[in-house]
Amino acid sequence: MNKISIHGEWSSKMAFILAATGSAVGLGNIWKFPYMAGQYGGGAFVIAYLLCIIILCLPVMMAEVMLGKRGRCSPINTMRNLVRETSQSKLWVLLGWSGALAGFLILSYYSVIAGWAMAYVPTLATGTFTEINNIPASEINDFVDSIFNSLIENPIELISWHTVFIIITMIMVAGGVKGGLEKAVNFMMPALFIVLLVLVGYAMSTPNFSEGFYFMFNFNFNDLLYLNCTETSCELSGEGLLAAMGQAFFSLSLGMGSIMVYGAYLPKDASVSKVTTAVVLADTLVAILAGLIIFPIVFSNGLEPGAGVGLVFKTLPIAFGQMPFGTLFGTLFFILLVLAALSSSISLVEPAVAWLIETGKFNRISASVTSGLLVWLAGLITVFSFNIWSEIKPLAGLNLFELLDYLTSNIMLPLGGLLIAIFVGWLMKKTVVAEELNSSIDSFIYYIWYFLLRYITPLGVGIVFLNAIGIFS
Ligand code: TRP
Repeated sequence: MNKISIHGEWSSKMAFILAATGSAVGLGNIWKFPYMAGQYGGGAFVIAYLLCIIILCLPVMMAEVMLGKRGRCSPINTMRNLVRETSQSKLWVLLGWSGALAGFLILSYYSVIAGWAMAYVPTLATGTFTEINNIPASEINDFVDSIFNSLIENPIELISWHTVFIIITMIMVAGGVKGGLEKAVNFMMPALFIVLLVLVGYAMSTPNFSEGFYFMFNFNFNDLLYLNCTETSCELSGEGLLAAMGQAFFSLSLGMGSIMVYGAYLPKDASVSKVTTAVVLADTLVAILAGLIIFPIVFSNGLEPGAGVGLVFKTLPIAFGQMPFGTLFGTLFFILLVLAALSSSISLVEPAVAWLIETGKFNRISASVTSGLLVWLAGLITVFSFNIWSEIKPLAGLNLFELLDYLTSNIMLPLGGLLIAIFVGWLMKKTVVAEELNSSIDSFIYYIWYFLLRYITPLGVGIVFLNAIGIFS
């Protein structure tokens, strides 16, 4: 099974790192991480998130890249190849299928949120938020709220941006592995990083920087042990712990095949542990920076950390409205955010597109168009759940968007990760695994990784699941 994938190969190891970082860094870091941390009480969530990244996700990520590298196909056919190689039950192919479905569902809402970021580009570029300097401080919150709300309450506008985003995504996917993707990510990541640093500088100049900092990093270990959360205190509940785990998987693009399919395009001699560690570090750094920017602004302006999905869109414009060159930086920031979202969104459909091509009935272009149309249609559910369907709450008081997010992030991704850990840790031959990792079986890193993957990851994910349904309380 040493063949090269029919879809192509990265031109270098660095190209893989950039593409995988491009997949990982996106709305998950800048939009989702801060609002989830805000909703679940700050420090306790952040520490749970970091622990999940290190203990659960890092091992799974290496395993997922390794699976792709071994199977050399779309996740569905990679699993088919590996099931044959290991003589396991065909049911394992379902892992590939559920991944493709998860990617499809995630992209359907991801595109709508990316549309918000797109909508903010012209809003910022025209200097809308400099108005903040002319109104009394007490009205600033209402001002940013009203701009955000008038966007999400307008289905036509949301659909338009969603359409644009899907079209660009599909053009990039149609371009193939090496085309535009490698080049775009090359300059975008460093640029995004620089703008984030400038914003951290601004955040440090706000009166409540230390409060924001404290909010993010203040925790005590009891928070993690307390499984029952009350309304008034910020101890992490079982639900919060599940959300932190889901967010860790989401942010690293794990558990659905994005990283697996990128691994399939990895040159044979690449060291899996080094490339994955680089991706994890970059992704985590961006999330932490986003939090360090947003929470000081929240506290300095008397906003609510638990404001929910609109948090980034209500806080950053305040900064851009007030800081020198804010219009320029703000416009640049949202452009970069859209680019970061694009480099993530392509990895969400790549597993499905690669599979369609492998069926022999599609070429890259027709596969991209077909998936794009389907995802676009599914995206309407999310569009409407912010306006005309906002009162439709079929389950547990969650609207349709929230349900989609819950189902994919909190259930499908960690479950995918759990199954990957079991497959690689227990069913594949140790020698094959070591060979693909380019590691010797008795190296120390390999030993630790294998131990985490076999025992700790499955146990950890299992405990978080059981805890969330209240087994331990
Ligand atoms: N990780 C990306 C983000 O943080 C989103 C993403 C891309 C993703 N591919 C994925 C999430 C696969 C889950 C699974 O924005």
